[in-house]
Amino acid sequence: MDQEKAVALDAFGDLKRSHTCGELRDEHVGQRALLMGWVNRRRDLGGLIFIHLRDREGITQVVFDAEVFKHVHAKAETLRHEYVIAVEGPVVKRDADTINPELKTGTVEIACEKVYVLNDARTPPFVLDDDTIGEDIRLRYRYVDLRRQQMQRNLRFRHDATFAIRESFNDQGFLELETPMMTRSTPEGARDYLVPSRVQQGSFYALPQSPQLFKQLLMVGGYDRYFQIVRCFRDEDLRADRQPEFTQIDLEMSFVDEDDVHHAVEKMIGQTLDKVGIAKPAFPLPRMSFAEAIEKYGSDKPDLRLPPLERVDELFGDLVTEGLPLMAIRIPGVGQLSRREREEFRPYGMAHGIKIFDDPKGLTKKFPESMATLRERIGLTDDDLLLLATLVDHPEGPKPEESTLLAVGGLRMHAAQKLKDKHGLLDPTNFQFLWVTEFPMFEWDENEQRWFAAHHPFTSPHEDDFDKLESHPHEVRSRAYDLVLNGVELGSGSIRIHRRDIQSQVFQALGFSEEDAHHRFGFFLDALEYGTPPHGGFAIGLDRLIMLLVGETSIRDVIPFPKNAKGTDVMCDAPNTVPTKQLTELGIALRRPVG
Ligand code: AMO
Repeated sequence: MDQEKAVALDAFGDLKRSHTCGELRDEHVGQRALLMGWVNRRRDLGGLIFIHLRDREGITQVVFDAEVFKHVHAKAETLRHEYVIAVEGPVVKRDADTINPELKTGTVEIACEKVYVLNDARTPPFVLDDDTIGEDIRLRYRYVDLRRQQMQRNLRFRHDATFAIRESFNDQGFLELETPMMTRSTPEGARDYLVPSRVQQGSFYALPQSPQLFKQLLMVGGYDRYFQIVRCFRDEDLRADRQPEFTQIDLEMSFVDEDDVHHAVEKMIGQTLDKVGIAKPAFPLPRMSFAEAIEKYGSDKPDLRLPPLERVDELFGDLVTEGLPLMAIRIPGVGQLSRREREEFRPYGMAHGIKIFDDPKGLTKKFPESMATLRERIGLTDDDLLLLATLVDHPEGPKPEESTLLAVGGLRMHAAQKLKDKHGLLDPTNFQFLWVTEFPMFEWDENEQRWFAAHHPFTSPHEDDFDKLESHPHEVRSRAYDLVLNGVELGSGSIRIHRRDIQSQVFQALGFSEEDAHHRFGFFLDALEYGTPPHGGFAIGLDRLIMLLVGETSIRDVIPFPKNAKGTDVMCDAPNTVPTKQLTELGIALRRPVG
């Protein structure tokens, strides 16, 4: 290939950069500059060659003039995309008509007198500013992809935010302490990544799903106010906001209640938003109980950018499915939708067993008074979409009303997502934070026929509900809380159990015998008996936080080297098989040899 023809490379020698590619301005005109970077673009106008030289800080135009420096111009003819070069020459002012307002350095350029080719490059697998490139190809050549402006912006943002988070916790008297990456498989351990031990064959470490137990043990150890920006590992099904390894902003505090934890987190969020130049919301952030969130939004992570649901059973009795709520969804400002547009919500309804009444004219004809009341009650205008929805059939499970509300809440978000682009809904720069509190303590698992801890088994039950632990576990509220941003769960935490007797009661409710519990986390239960202070904490998904703040829709775009949607690192091809010899050393034999 022409482009891969060998070019003579120059020695790096003792060249020193004078400026970055984003630095030069009018005030530098007349000075000499030596810049280094990548060839972002080359325009060859015959006697004049223009190169956009790029580094992390920006782009500077470099001019090679055949009439002034013939040999330098000749060398510039050999330069190609992504070559790494150094250029030297005076900074000159551009003519008014060649100023480039899109570049920070757009009023000046370098009149190149010397050029050094520090390295050549193969033709890149894609053009950097092409937004249509498939993700796998981007991830396969991630080192090239990382040069794109979007990635540069996202990762710098991530750095700035992370730095502000550290500063805030330091200011608040937190200590940054590390917890082990090689630990033991935990209770809900089905999703652990295991690491075989060579010296203790047949035994495995597990990578932590979170530092939960260790941070609580730090409280037992007297390190009130811990934080860590920490990698966690979970072998779970992936989605746009999930990775098998991800980063948590993790914290734990002693002698605190919910308000103290919320306050520390809010302070950190405020300082972070300041640092990255995003307007702060009003603090304290709004709070809503889990029960209220389900009732009003049909979700435990309500998106407050849209109006709540309204219960309308009594207005439209004929449309109700016996015993289930009928809910009105209002999506404002989308104008009158055509029948065809309204019918686009039907497949979602069918898939989720929801019946939808989407014809406002028909409804007004049939229920004129009810529609008038509804219009007034929820401020419905002709520009708003109105959907009335409920389940077709009675759902299985212990909480039919909650199931209906969740289904309708799902439809609300589905409709908004569908209409989002055309009607400018769900503005990603409108940041609506919300604390959701008092989650239920237990969730019933139909398959296993037992209660599971909705958060984790170390979460404290609500003190008013202690007496229901045995008799009415489904009514027990926990002291767990989530932080939600624009309908995404950003983080969760809780006030923990610090008393051994209450921990035993919770295990009992979960159906663990004392023996069982001891086998699973005896070391932790022992610790509870050695002077455990009341404590609580929180963990925010750092990747999710950055994703939302920079306006991305996938956390893969804010992580330097993520796995793809199937959990594969397509660049280094991991996970991968290992030679049998390596397995033998670990005492492992595969049941079905692979490959
Ligand atoms: P939880 O399991 O809710 O709580 O996790 C806290 C936050 O971590 C983020 N998160 C993820 N981000 C990307 N990919 C994943 N696979 C993933 N899983 C979770 C989410 C989530 O809200 N130990 C408790 C916290 C505590 O009680 O202090 C915990 O880990 O943003």
